[in-house]
Amino acid sequence: MLRIALVCLALLSVSGSIVAAERPVAPNGIAIYPDYMAWKVIAPSYREDKGHIRIITGNEVAVAALRAGRKPLPDGSVLAKVAWKAEKHPSFPAATEPGAFVQVEFMVKDAKKYKATGGWGFARFVGNDLKPYGKDAGFVGECFGCHLPVADNDYLFTRIVKTP
Ligand code: HEC
Repeated sequence: MLRIALVCLALLSVSGSIVAAERPVAPNGIAIYPDYMAWKVIAPSYREDKGHIRIITGNEVAVAALRAGRKPLPDGSVLAKVAWKAEKHPSFPAATEPGAFVQVEFMVKDAKKYKATGGWGFARFVGNDLKPYGKDAGFVGECFGCHLPVADNDYLFTRIVKTP
């Protein structure tokens, strides 16, 4: 009995709350991808008007295509954009570092399923409780609308960072 309880406890602590609990789901049915921080870095970014530090990561399919310069990205590609409030480093104020978590957003490629929005499914989860954004599935109009100017780059703003 004790052994079973210990195993359960160990499993819970390994899987973490986000996996053990129900995954938050956006109004269009896209569930959060809990492993987005384990994906590969595409680029960092900084949004001046909001004072947010972001990183954009991608799953294997997305990053392989971006590295090969393949566009549009193939089905199965997923990109995440994670944002934190920018804060001065307490021990070195000239340095800016990520403070409180703001939100995580996803773009999921499925050319057929998301044909109306350039082949991309959008989702946003806000704050530490990862609250799904949007009253109904219509929220994607806001996302897609702002990504339209980069339609010729498969609706992606971010370009993969250059390294030697
Ligand atoms: C007001 C304009 C605007 C809106 C609205 C918007 N985005 Fe973006 N998005 C951007 C810009 C600009 C970037 C480039 C990176 C950055 O801002 O840090 C970006 C980047 C992204 C990225 C990384 C891939 C890329 O294109 O660079 C994802 C994922 C993303 N947005 C998801 C969403 C989702 C989901 C929504 C809606 C809930 C949304 N966006 C709404 C402007 C917008």
